[in-house]
Amino acid sequence: MMNSSADILLPDENGLAQAAKALRSGACVAFPTETVYGLGADAHNGQAVARIFQAKERPSFNPLIVHLHDASAAQKLVEWTDVAERLANAFWPGPLSLVLPLKAGHGLSELVTAGLDTVAIRVPRHETAQKLLHAFDGPVAAPSANPSGQISPTTAQHVIDGLGNKIAAVVDGGPCDVGLESTIVQATPPGQLLRPGGVTTEDIEAVLGTTLARPASDKITSPGQIASHYAPQSHLRLNAAQPDNTEVMLGFGEIAGDLTLSASGDLVEAAANLFGHLHLLDKRRQPIAVAPVPNVGLGRAINDRLKRAAAPRSSMTSGG
Ligand code: TXA
Ligand code: MG
Repeated sequence: MMNSSADILLPDENGLAQAAKALRSGACVAFPTETVYGLGADAHNGQAVARIFQAKERPSFNPLIVHLHDASAAQKLVEWTDVAERLANAFWPGPLSLVLPLKAGHGLSELVTAGLDTVAIRVPRHETAQKLLHAFDGPVAAPSANPSGQISPTTAQHVIDGLGNKIAAVVDGGPCDVGLESTIVQATPPGQLLRPGGVTTEDIEAVLGTTLARPASDKITSPGQIASHYAPQSHLRLNAAQPDNTEVMLGFGEIAGDLTLSASGDLVEAAANLFGHLHLLDKRRQPIAVAPVPNVGLGRAINDRLKRAAAPRSSMTSGG
């Protein structure tokens, strides 16, 4: 078992205040939800969100679920729909995530949504999650708190075993009672099941009074594959030392560009800037030359995204 440097916090007033303070400072904090333990970060803070991917060693930037303490906090971020209203009334707080279009001025980091114009939102019912979300009083991005490719944690000890030397703290709220990730539903009409989970499809269909379109059956085990992914309109040329005279340049480290992911070569900063910079350069409607990014640590996920963005759309799928 690895050494752990993470603080184990009790779900009392003092522990939750410490957890909220760590989140505000840009650190990653694991916390229980009724499904699994999540690895949380301030969803407004791109560098904090980048640290989630760094800690999990995720090989790819998948869009994350944003956790809020109630539906009215969620409605400030997204365009609400009738499907969302009915499902939220029936299942929130609970193990259900809804994918909805982002509202202008949402303020979320583009790393949370992986550059998409939709976001997955969830109001968990676990008492500790509720208390932490109230104490922090803002949106918390959180995937399951395990190293990429390993089993989702349902106790604080699982989190410590997997990530104890990589995260600031874990709030120990006891075992998770559902033990299975949330169900994800695309809540724009007519509604679509994106991932089966803690709320059954039958219960959702009973509330909506219709049958939901299902994900392609061979892809159910890889939920990331069913999300569409952000790709720029403009052609990308990777590992470029400099732009040719038709191109705009996305720089990194010593290679400065029209926009630069991180002048100091910091991969956390680069990850936080990735989707925002691509969006801005794409607006110029010129081909984009991209400086090399080292293929280590978070650089792997950055390069994975850049490769997808450079590939023809039909060959894109998501990993991890
Ligand atoms: O129970 C859960 O859902 C746990 C707890 C911590 O809340 N979280 C969780 O997160 O399972 P994660 O990162 O393992 O799964 C998030 C999935 C992604 O695989 C992605 O496919 C989907 O949510 N997702 C997120 N945003 C999306 C979007 N805008 N469109 C489609 N799918 C999205
Ligand atoms: Mg997971």
